[in-house]
Formats: sequence, C-alpha cells, structure tokens
Amino acid sequence: MTNEIIKLLASSEKEINGCINVPGDKSISHRAIIISSITEGKTQINQYLDSDDINATIDVCRHIDAEIEKENESLIIRGNNLERIRREDIELNFGNSGTSMRLMMGVLSAQKFSSTLIGDKSLTQRPMNRVSYPLNNMNADIKTSNGMPPIYISPVNNIQNVNHKIEIASAQIKSSIMLAGLYGLDPFTITSPQSRDHTEIMLKEFGCNITLESNSINIVPGKLTSPKIIDIPGDISSAAFFIVGSIISKNSQVRIENVGLNPLRTGFIDILKMMGANIKISDLKKVNGELVGNIDVESSKLDAIRIPKDLIARSIDELPLVVLAASQAEGKTSLRNAEELRLKESDRISSMVKMMERFNITIDEFDDGMDIYGGIIKGNTVNSFGDHRIAMTGLLASLVSHGDIIVEDTKNIDTSFPNFIDMANSIGMGIKVYD
Ligand code: S3P
Repeated sequence: MTNEIIKLLASSEKEINGCINVPGDKSISHRAIIISSITEGKTQINQYLDSDDINATIDVCRHIDAEIEKENESLIIRGNNLERIRREDIELNFGNSGTSMRLMMGVLSAQKFSSTLIGDKSLTQRPMNRVSYPLNNMNADIKTSNGMPPIYISPVNNIQNVNHKIEIASAQIKSSIMLAGLYGLDPFTITSPQSRDHTEIMLKEFGCNITLESNSINIVPGKLTSPKIIDIPGDISSAAFFIVGSIISKNSQVRIENVGLNPLRTGFIDILKMMGANIKISDLKKVNGELVGNIDVESSKLDAIRIPKDLIARSIDELPLVVLAASQAEGKTSLRNAEELRLKESDRISSMVKMMERFNITIDEFDDGMDIYGGIIKGNTVNSFGDHRIAMTGLLASLVSHGDIIVEDTKNIDTSFPNFIDMANSIGMGIKVYD
C-alpha cells in the first residue's frame, strides 16, 4: 500500500512481534547515487531506498548526464567522471528533500549551466545559507531567496578550494562542501563538530584521497573510482519506529535484521538504554565501510532521564520518537541543546509539543527542547505538520494510547518509508485508511 491517502487510523493497544528488514538507508542512498553519478563507469547500488526523496536525487543526477536505470531492486548508474556539464538552464524540483537539495548545491555549483532549485512548501521554509555561504567562499555563485529556496546557481570558471571551520553539527553542510571541493584543484580541510559521516565513508569507498582526524576532514581532490557494487544497509531511522514501538508496547518482541549501525546514528539507542530499554545488537560487520548488524528489542520499563548533550547530534532524526518514549517513562525527561530540531521538515519541537498536548501528555516547550512528563496517552486526531517522522510517530503512539489515533496528512510518509503501513501491520499494528 502506498500512502496516497491523507488520514490514517491506528487502532489502540496492539502488541508487535516479528522479524523485519526495513528499507535501505536514506542518507546512504542519496550519497551512493550522487557519488556514483560523478564517478566514471558503472556502479550497481543494491537495496537502495525507493522513496520520493531518493527519486528527487535520481532525477537531478540525470540532469548532470548520469545514466541511471532501475533493475529489479537495484540501481545501475553510469557516471560522468566529474565532468562539468554544459546544458540549457534548468529548474530542478527537490520535493521535500533537504538532504538532496543541500548536497546537490555542492555538485551543481561546479557545473557549466544555471539552475534554479525549488521544493515543496516545507523545503521552501528551510535554511540554505548554511550551505550557500561556504560554497560562495569557494567561488560558487549561489543566490537564495532570503536564505531559503528557490536557489539560483550560476556557473563559475572554477571552484577554488579553501579550508572551512563549520560551527553547526550538520552532515549536509560538510557533505555539500566535500562534493563541491572535488571539482577544485587544491587540497582542503573541513573542521566541524561531529555529525553522520556517510559521505566520508562513501568517498573512501570510491577511492577518494580523504583522511579523517577527530574533528577534521582532509581531501585531496581527484577522479573517483567505482567500487562496482554498493550494498545499502537498512535505515536505522526507519528501524527506530519499531524499536521504540516494541519498547513502549506490552508483550512485544521485534528483531530487525541488516540495519546500519554507524555510531554517529545510534545516539537514540544509547538514550533508550539509559532509560532502561532492553535492546541487543548482534552480528556486527562492515559493508562498504558502514557498520551493519541485527537488533533485538522487547517491551521495557522506562525511567525518565536528562538527555546528555553529546547524544543530540547522533540522534537528531529520532528525537520525536525519544519524546514518545519519554511520555511512557516514569518522571520528567529533559531534552535540551536540540534547537536544530526547529529546522527540520517541520519545527519538530513545536510539532511534538502540540501532538503530545493533544495526547494529554504534560510537556513544557523551551527554545532548544522540551521537558516531557510520563503519563497516559489518550486517543485523538493529530496532524503531521507536513512531516513524515511526526506522522509515523503519531501512529506509533497508538501502541500505548487509550483509544484509537487518527493522523492527518500522511502522504509525506512516502518521502522516507513508503511501505511503513504494510510493515507495521505485518508485525501486529492496526493502521488503516480513515475516510
Ligand atoms: C542528513 C543529515 C541531518 C539529518 C537529515 C539527513 C544527511 O541533517 O537530520 O535527516 O543525510 O546528511 P543536518 O545535516 O541538517 O544535521
């Protein structure tokens, strides 16, 4: 079932049990497609995420002359060997995908054509100066609309590499710079707080001369070489829904196989374990440089905690689920230093506060986070605020709610997890179209 419909109803107090494989990692799929598209020769990408966000990236990469075909469950990409492409000026639509727009700004700023980058209502409200400023420091010619899309990129004679010091923990900023820097001549360094390192790992797989120190990335630009095959692990951010679902619901036990366990993505597991969750990781191995393994999780009793600052960047996309878990913990959980949440597909601090209030949970809002008090969730109708992760978090709350939950505006689930409903129902949830 795809999520063409607007409203979904999730029946209350279900138990979930079973073994699942979640779809491919969204962040890694974007990088595999983009980097294969600028590499000479053929790359086969297996288990990629087939979702709206990824299709936006595929579409844009075709405009830089990458040949991309879908074959069974894989993508076959023949890339352009870092050629700077000449073509008609073009408008490119990135839909809902901030990652795609920001990473491709790095690639597009090195091309020999002008592009206008647009997106949907949510993307049009997201900050792009964080990427356009450092890229313009590399001689790119990027104009924004008051810091947001539409973005106007004009061609320049060359990209000039400089060293960067980034203050925000953002993989999208550093990735955009890395990708643009491949088109420059000089070696360069990016220093920034830690954030997911999938671009660094993928570039290494493609033979890039990249060295990593604790907080800095050093790159010597040069042509890339395809590793021929990339296997994408399951998306830990999608697995997170069922991890939190099993923890908060009664009599539940779920195994999720072949999931990406990059340590810069697993902060929410550390948070849940601190709260008392029973989560076990097994069969760890490395695939294309990424850590992959299985996760076993079961119903657990949770205690409130103060979430440590150093876990925020490593759990940024799962914090709405941490808020749901906190609503089922004994006591007050404090989440702070999470102001970046306001800049996601929705303002996720405001969205979660509004959703929790409709669920009858006591929650206090702060500029950079929330205090969440454990309580009983009552069934209600809630809105996704146009945000896929908020929509799915709302549906998950039905596992503990007294009364069914209706979530409005759920089409956005297709951006990251198109088979979410089928997978959730296959392990015991009761989600159906509400009309
Ligand atoms: C992503 C980086 C994170 C994350 C987003 C995906 C990526 O954003 O929230 O969902 O794939 O690079 P920031 O770079 O803004 O932290």
